[in-house]
Amino acid sequence: MSNKKPIRIGLIGTGLMGRIHTNAYKRIPDFFSEFEYMPVLQAACARREDKVKAFAEQWGYASYETDWKELIAREDIDAVDICTPNDTHAEIAIAAAKAGKMILCEKPLSRTLEEGEAMVKAVEEAGVKNTVWYNYRRVPAVTLAKQLVDSGKLGKIFHYRANFLQDWTINPELPQGGDALWRLDVDAAGSGVTGDLLAHCIDTAMWLNGGIKDVSAMTETFIKERVHQGSGMVQKVGIDDACVFHCHFDNGSLGLFEATRYARGHKALYTFEINGEHASIRWDLHDMNWLEIFDHKDESQVRGWRRVHITEGEQPYMNRWWIPGTSIGYEHSFIHQAADFFLSLQTGEPCAPTFQDAFETQKVCQAVLDSAASKSWKDTGVKWEG
Ligand SMILES: NC(=O)c1ccc[n+]([C@@H]2O[C@H](COP(=O)([O-])OP(=O)(O)OC[C@H]3O[C@@H](n4cnc5c(N)ncnc54)[C@H](O)[C@@H]3O)[C@@H](O)[C@H]2O)c1
Repeated sequence: MSNKKPIRIGLIGTGLMGRIHTNAYKRIPDFFSEFEYMPVLQAACARREDKVKAFAEQWGYASYETDWKELIAREDIDAVDICTPNDTHAEIAIAAAKAGKMILCEKPLSRTLEEGEAMVKAVEEAGVKNTVWYNYRRVPAVTLAKQLVDSGKLGKIFHYRANFLQDWTINPELPQGGDALWRLDVDAAGSGVTGDLLAHCIDTAMWLNGGIKDVSAMTETFIKERVHQGSGMVQKVGIDDACVFHCHFDNGSLGLFEATRYARGHKALYTFEINGEHASIRWDLHDMNWLEIFDHKDESQVRGWRRVHITEGEQPYMNRWWIPGTSIGYEHSFIHQAADFFLSLQTGEPCAPTFQDAFETQKVCQAVLDSAASKSWKDTGVKWEG
């Protein structure tokens, strides 16, 4: 490590993503050892001292803070990693940009377009490196899908279809708000499944198939009132529990998207399928190391859907891992994103998706919510370059 350039990480939020990002940083020196820049776990930040101290000790951070403003003010922090609920992203990111820090921010970028726009402006004015953790792009099978689409193998694209199905909020007794349940509180989350789940589907979709031009959506809130953990009172639920939308892409193809937390039996069933003139591909998070491909150019007697196991060294990222035939997991998509961030410091290229890219996804999310509220088609205003 001695001849490496250290990037001192200040991690804010020590929940699910705090752990998964930390794991990603810890893997870089071993599996991407030739990189010029290396992460250093400098400080972790969470509000409760006992918890953040224990987290810092367990995961190997050199120090801790209980106030993110103190963390950002520190001169020994180069990059701020935002792993906190959505209502904090804008304030932390804008302050971090003003302090000249690089920023890695969890998705969705923001709760609103106003917040997102201010975040993009802040990083651009400060000229700081930025990225948003839309990690599914870095699942090797999904990256391979991108390579296949870009190579023209599918030909003209006609259809893009994606689902993200869960079932964890069906119980009406589940409260909203507070630790672990902030996703049910519209003030903390910004929206329900649209910002939480569809944002992932939209990022992947635009990355693979280009900009989404306009949308027609419907949302539903199945449980109208829940106890709020903060006030202790029964309060109106402001999030969308389920959302379905269809859309036009800039390339003329049609899109169909669905996300819900009420699909009994499904935990995180993120799937997409793309149908082109020559070939189709589909992918399923529950079976994430496989890509299914139908190629009409195959000899007709043996033509059919084939399942390709993505474990070969020439497939994206897989030369970093074990041997052909052996799988990697969910956490590797974050390791790959962290690695691409460190590589981008070396190349000087942006690390996509940038705040600007994630803001384009935010525009689609907002158009979806507006369309559902007004029961009408909405233009997204997306300018997709990613
Ligand atoms: N990329 C993905 O696939 C993915 C998956 C899950 C969550 N996320 C995103 O990551 C973010 C965090 O989600 P999570 O699942 O880790 O949530 P979580 O509830 O597990 O953890 C959030 C953490 O933030 C801390 N926190 C809250 N307010 C804080 C503050 N003001 N200062 C310091 N710490 C604070 C909480 O104490 C907690 O440790 C969200 O924006 C979420 O949308 C992304």
